[in-house]
Amino acid sequence: MGLLDWDHNAYYHRLLMRQLPSPCTRVLDVGCGAGAFAAELAKRAGHVDALDRSPVMIQAARQITPANVTCILGDVMRDPLPAEPYDAIVSVTALHHLPLDDALRRLSRALRPGGVLAAVALPRPDLARELPAELLAAAGHRAFGAAFAVFRSSGRGGWYRLGPGHASMPKVLDPPLTTRQVRQHATAALPGARVRRLVFWRYLLLWQRPIEGGLASTGRLSGGERRGRMPAEPPIGAA
Ligand SMILES: C[S@@+](CC[C@H](N)C(=O)[O-])C[C@H]1O[C@@H](n2cnc3c(N)ncnc32)[C@H](O)[C@@H]1O
Repeated sequence: MGLLDWDHNAYYHRLLMRQLPSPCTRVLDVGCGAGAFAAELAKRAGHVDALDRSPVMIQAARQITPANVTCILGDVMRDPLPAEPYDAIVSVTALHHLPLDDALRRLSRALRPGGVLAAVALPRPDLARELPAELLAAAGHRAFGAAFAVFRSSGRGGWYRLGPGHASMPKVLDPPLTTRQVRQHATAALPGARVRRLVFWRYLLLWQRPIEGGLASTGRLSGGERRGRMPAEPPIGAA
């Protein structure tokens, strides 16, 4: 791990937090890993279910999450999801571990009407279409890494420091689908879903479960987002 390395997953937490609907009483974090995002969610949501199939990750998540987080050892594709629907289902870098179409349909059924599915995951590189993003990511990774290292050394926060569990986290380094393919699958499985490439080797997938008889109106997606515009990436902020 180099001095300039930093946690791209943590960087996108705030982007996902901004997608949470209101009210947001029950949230599911799919592939919660060591629980860092579930702990953040717990400050906004009444209750968080943090699910992972890795016993090591769930053990780590139990150490850092507060009482309103239930850490569940289970496989999201195999084990039954709770009958009571969620206001939001979120996921950080786990969707590309799963068979996408089945996962999206399965997760969509676990949302309340107006509930939001928001996921950040890894796309397969697609240099023909995403060369500008790749170049920006390579340059930005180092520039941001240098800035974050300086901020960390000044003692003002963690600034996306890679956690101790990073090395042991289950990873898929060869994701099967490009951003474009994820968009094709997502819009077929969940009409109205939106997918866009984020700079730092991630895509964002958003979908709001329609409210029967009308447009979804209780979620926090803005009018522009419901018409198909995606939210901007977050500015650099305190870690
Ligand atoms: C790259 S890690 C990301 C962890 C965490 N979300 C983070 O951002 O630090 C992906 C996680 O998804 C979990 N995962 C993969 N497939 C899963 C499945 N079918 N059910 C539950 N968890 C799964 C892995 O065990 C792993 O902890």
